[in-house]
This record gives sequence, C-alpha cells and structure tokens, in this order.
Amino acid sequence: MNEPADPIEAVTHPDPYPYYASLAVRWPIYRDERLGMWVAASAAAVTDVLTSDACRVRPSAEPVPHALVGSAAGEVFRRLVRMNEGAEHRSMKPAVASTVGAMTAGRVGDAAREWARVICDELRSASDEQRIDAVASSVPTFTVAALLGVPRDELPEVARWTGDLARCFAPGAAAEQVERGAAAAEGLLDLFRRLPTIGGEGATRIAHGSDAVVANAIGLLTQAYDATAGLIGSTLLALARHPDVRRNVAADASLLRVVVEEVVRHDPPIQNTRRFVSRDATVAGQHLREGDAVLVVLAAANHDAGANPCPERFDLSRAHRRTFTFGAGVHACPGEMLAKNIAHAVVDALLASGVDPAGLRGAVTYQPSASARVPRFSAGSEARSSTYRQNEVRG
Ligand code: HEM
Repeated sequence: MNEPADPIEAVTHPDPYPYYASLAVRWPIYRDERLGMWVAASAAAVTDVLTSDACRVRPSAEPVPHALVGSAAGEVFRRLVRMNEGAEHRSMKPAVASTVGAMTAGRVGDAAREWARVICDELRSASDEQRIDAVASSVPTFTVAALLGVPRDELPEVARWTGDLARCFAPGAAAEQVERGAAAAEGLLDLFRRLPTIGGEGATRIAHGSDAVVANAIGLLTQAYDATAGLIGSTLLALARHPDVRRNVAADASLLRVVVEEVVRHDPPIQNTRRFVSRDATVAGQHLREGDAVLVVLAAANHDAGANPCPERFDLSRAHRRTFTFGAGVHACPGEMLAKNIAHAVVDALLASGVDPAGLRGAVTYQPSASARVPRFSAGSEARSSTYRQNEVRG
C-alpha cells in the first residue's frame, strides 16, 4: 500500500498510522512546500503550537472565510468560540463549557440510546451497514439538539441543516456547499431564536437573546456532527478488526468504554487542526513568520512513540495513554466527555440491536474530508475517497 502523499491525504487513507509515526519521529515540525504550510507532527511540536499565543485559530486578514462573508453562515461563524481569540473567546468559553457540562453522562446516554433504538427500529429491514451509517450520522446531532431544548419533531430537519452547515464550514468547501450552508444557517438561526431557553430540561439554562449565545449553540451541533460520527464508526471498525477485543467486550460490557478511549488515540476522528501565525515567533524550535499557516497533526502526535510506546498497538491496557485528539490549550474541546458518552451509548445500542461487527467485512470508505476521519459502511452513503478491505489483526 502506498503511503499518503501528505498529511491531508492521510486523513482518508486506509492506514495512515505508520506514516504519521514516522513523521512524528523524523519530521517533528517541517515546512511542506506543496501544501504551503508548516506541519507539526510530534507530541512536543503539536503541544507547542497549540499553546503558543502567536498561533491563532484564524488568519488575521480573514477572520471569516471570504466565501461566507455576508451570509447567515458567516454570521454564525464569526461568533463561534472555536473561531475567536482573546476577549471574545474568554467571554464565551465558560458559558459554552457549562452548557456542555450540564449534559451529564446519564442524560446523554439515555437520549443517545433512545435515538439509536428508534432509528434501528425504523430501519429493521436494512443491512447492518445502512443502520450504522444512519445512526452515526444523525444520533449525535439529535442528542445534542434535544438536550439544548430543540423540540422532538424538529430534530430531523436540524440534523440535515447541521450537516449542510458543517460541510460549508470545512476548509475548501465548494460553492454549492457554501450555498446550502448559508440556507441551513438561516433555518438554524430562526429555530434557535425561537427557543425560550437554551439548555433544555434540567440543564443550566442560559437565558438568551444574544446572537453570540445562539451562534454558539448552533456551533455545538456542527462541532459534534462529523467528529462523533467518526468515533462511532471507528469504534465499530476496531471491534471488527480485533476479534480478541470483541470477545472481551462480549464477556465484560464495561470494557466498551476503554475501547472508545483507545480508538480516540489510535484511530482519531479528528486528525488535524490549523493555526495561523500572528507575529514572527519561534515555536517548536522553528522560526515562524507572521502569516504562516500550520497544520497541527493531532493523529501523528497520538502515534509519537515518545508519547505512547508501541503506538501502532491497539492496547486496552495501555498505561498513561496520551491523546491529542481533543486539542490542547485555550481552544481544547469542551465536548470530550459528551462525545465519548454518545459514542459509547450508540455503539452499545447498535450491538444490542443485533449489529455484528464481525460481519462488517465489506468495503469501508471514508467520507471526503481534510480533517475528519469518518468511516462509511454502506454502498449507498455519501461520495467516498478511499476504500479499505478489512483485515482482522490481533489487538
Ligand atoms: C469525537 C468527537 C470530538 C472530537 C474529536 C473533537 C475535537 C475537537 C478539537 C481537536 C478541538 C480544538 C480545535 C482547535 O484547537 O483547533 C475542538 C474544539 C471544540 N469542540 Fe470538539 N470534538 C468532538 C466533539 C465535540 C462535541 C460533542 C462538542 C459539543 C457538543 C464539541 C465542542 C467543541 C467546541 C465548542 C470547541 C471549540 C472550543 C474553543 O475553541 O475554545 N466537540 N474539538
């Protein structure tokens, strides 16, 4: 198998991990002239870039992507905690983190399990692969939206809008995706402005009225969308590829949580993020110039042998697992526990509904993306960029 040409191609490559491991050791941080970016790959370089105050989440000259300016999608984008720095970021992050924190494991697990069951029932006559794709692409959004207070009958439309907006926010979105995303943002803004409170039953209720609160509630949906679908799919793939892990989970269901933890490290759903240098600075031992872009390869840091010995091993008993998948520094993901709880509940519900990972022998493909690794199992699902025939390996 050819190794990926670069860390962007690696995102949807059948097995990018030997390549990532070698980057982390041999090229901890380097300039990729073809991509026109620096690439940070080792655990130390990834940490340095993510915690440097010279490295920002958006280019200074383009706080909102040009294609989104003037649209409802641009209005949402420019207020997102994910896309802001300094005072703007500090003013919203605690509210965002407390809204997410109020989604406790019990409530999240109940909601995700219920939605997975409903969709599996509706698709009784479909294949396992079709059920997995349908559940992975909708249950994370249904769960987060329901916990934010979106009425039940509006959830399917919210999930469609969220998909359109997430694709419009992705780097390199096509004109047609931007157009659909703008329409989706209008629908979501209208719906969230009509909600009496954001946070729903029993959560820390945030009385809103501010556009920033509404935008960041919508941002929770887009942040959860692909990443959590990827975690669900890759957890099922791990069970498919490792028969011993499958047997152990069948004997002791509590191990499924550890499987999710190791998938987060070993086959992460978000493989990279980006930073933009706001002033000349030395970061990770390299002199970076104002305006430079850095691709921060979180998945390579997970496979840095200095951080995780024998990184290629899928090892449930790994001591001191170090994971970079949820970022680091001020922009670190506030949704880590939420995502793991959703993935655990959904995979558990799929197994309970009769989905057999051992039977997932077909061609697995990855949804086209420059940063998210989202397996698609059924032939009818979205366009694909690579094909993988599974091999069973010992875990
Ligand atoms: C497996 C699932 C997920 C993964 C791998 C993931 C990963 C990440 C990463 C890497 C970042 C930092 C990006 C950067 O610094 O450039 C981030 C930020 C963020 N994530 Fe997640 N995420 C996941 C699920 C979620 C969920 C379920 C939520 C909430 C519903 C969420 C909400 C956020 C928010 C609000 C930010 C921005 C934080 C800030 O900029 O301060 N994420 N996520």
